[in-house]
Amino acid sequence: MTATERHTMLLQMKVVFRRAEQSDLPKLEWYGEYTHFRRVFQKAFEDQKAGRRLMLLADVNGWPVGQLFIQLESVDDFYTDGTKRAYLYSLRVMDAFQRQGIGTALLREAEAILIERGYHSVSIAAAKDNPGARRLYERMGFRVFTEDAGRWHYVDHEGRTRQVVEPCWVLEKDLR
Ligand SMILES: CC(C)(COP(=O)(O)OP(=O)(O)OC[C@H]1O[C@@H](n2cnc3c(N)ncnc32)[C@H](O)[C@@H]1OP(=O)(O)O)[C@@H](O)C(=O)NCCC(=O)NCCS
Repeated sequence: MTATERHTMLLQMKVVFRRAEQSDLPKLEWYGEYTHFRRVFQKAFEDQKAGRRLMLLADVNGWPVGQLFIQLESVDDFYTDGTKRAYLYSLRVMDAFQRQGIGTALLREAEAILIERGYHSVSIAAAKDNPGARRLYERMGFRVFTEDAGRWHYVDHEGRTRQVVEPCWVLEKDLR
């Protein structure tokens, strides 16, 4: 073992929870990992400006190490009773920052925003092959109320339409 391997230092970092700004959009691509979502991020940002969505970020030193998007006007077919609902999606935290509570804090922040805006309930999907995400949502008080085939598509940064099939559980939480 070298001297370098033995050396450690402790870091204390401030995490700021805030909305995305235009200058964050390239950073949300995480150096290429999410470049294919460039147009999706741009569209979400336009929707945020129009008041239809919120792009919530966990910022460390100006970098979005975590994100959670909120669709404020749910168009889901399940919702026919006229209550005010929102849909959370695209939750992710950079690997090196996981298991520190950032995912939980993003969900809490989203709930606080929705309660302040008078929303009655909120839903979120967990891929069936992602038990860790489902566990996190259930610990936060979400309960499975249906399942979905998880079929959707988007246009990538090169203009190609990409199909996604991700069977998921849909979970809901009452905010009242
Ligand atoms: C799912 C995801 C967003 C969770 O983010 P996270 O920041 O790691 O979430 P948290 O730290 O709040 O909680 C995760 C776990 O860490 C634990 N944890 C929280 N703070 C901790 C701490 N200080 N020390 C040790 N463990 C801690 C939690 O108890 C939880 O444990 P569990 O796995 O047994 O449920 C993250 O794993 C991720 O980005 N995954 C890839 C993308 C993804 O799957 N997104 C969900 C789509 S449905």
